[in-house]
Amino acid sequence: MLIAKEIKCPYCHVLTIAKDGNKSEGIQNQRCKNCRRQFIRDRGISDQGAFPWTASCGHPLPSFGTDSIGKEIEDRYEVAMIARNFVVFEGGDGSGTTTQIKLLRQRFERKKPEKQLPSLWTTCEPTDGAIGALIRSALRGGLALQAGTLARLFSADRSEHVFAQNGVIDRCNRGELVVSDRYVLSSLAYQGIGCGDALPKALNEEFPAPEMLFFFDIEPEIALKRMENRRIREIFEYLDFQVKVRERYKALLPWYEEKGTITITVDAAKTPDAVAEDVWKALKNASLLKTAYES
Ligand code: TMP
Repeated sequence: MLIAKEIKCPYCHVLTIAKDGNKSEGIQNQRCKNCRRQFIRDRGISDQGAFPWTASCGHPLPSFGTDSIGKEIEDRYEVAMIARNFVVFEGGDGSGTTTQIKLLRQRFERKKPEKQLPSLWTTCEPTDGAIGALIRSALRGGLALQAGTLARLFSADRSEHVFAQNGVIDRCNRGELVVSDRYVLSSLAYQGIGCGDALPKALNEEFPAPEMLFFFDIEPEIALKRMENRRIREIFEYLDFQVKVRERYKALLPWYEEKGTITITVDAAKTPDAVAEDVWKALKNASLLKTAYES
């Protein structure tokens, strides 16, 4: 039985009415309304009761914890882990994701005056933040790390990228189109080879899936040839590894489709301009751009 009683919120010390009577519900139930809200927000739900992911479409709920608040959130919100307005480019090394991001930015700059296009934010993982810098140093061989440590760093970097202020979720919620060069699937495809599937899957479980995912598919031999002249080489840039990466991407795509992400495989062996056209044709169907192109 729940009994209302007046207590001091243990977090901000304001007098509040708390639900009490069930000890196993723990201290979370004694927070005042504001601190409860903050608690909920910290777990990925924004404060107006709206949440960063799209409305219900029958996908499994993310885990918000096994305590009473976590359960309450799961009961109250039917949350599908799809971040609307979020688009991801994925592929093996040398598949051209970075070039395509650049071409997309240029297209937006050209078209914006003529069409009512949303703001575009292009971004990448690893990020250029502090954790991303550490990862880059490991990728260039300057820092020897266990495969599991690298997997943990990638997900820590992602956590900042996605949930920080002005990060992916913030911007998607503000109506910007966010396009990221690499995301969760990179961790599943690459880190899975070094430390098995379980750890990267567990570390990435709670990140929302993108609305759209482009997989830039190319024979690893051709991709590596494209990179021959690069001055800086990274630890994953060798043929055997890239062959495995490609196989793993292909096997993993259905995993995202099941979550409700629209996945598009692009023939990345074409010229950059031809690939950019293929990307644009599909991207015009993203929810934000559809409106601009239908009007
Ligand atoms: P790139 O962005 O220059 O392609 O380099 C990033 C490298 O990091 C690339 O080899 C893929 C790898 N990577 C992972 O192994 N796991 C990840 O989660 C991400 C985002 C990238």
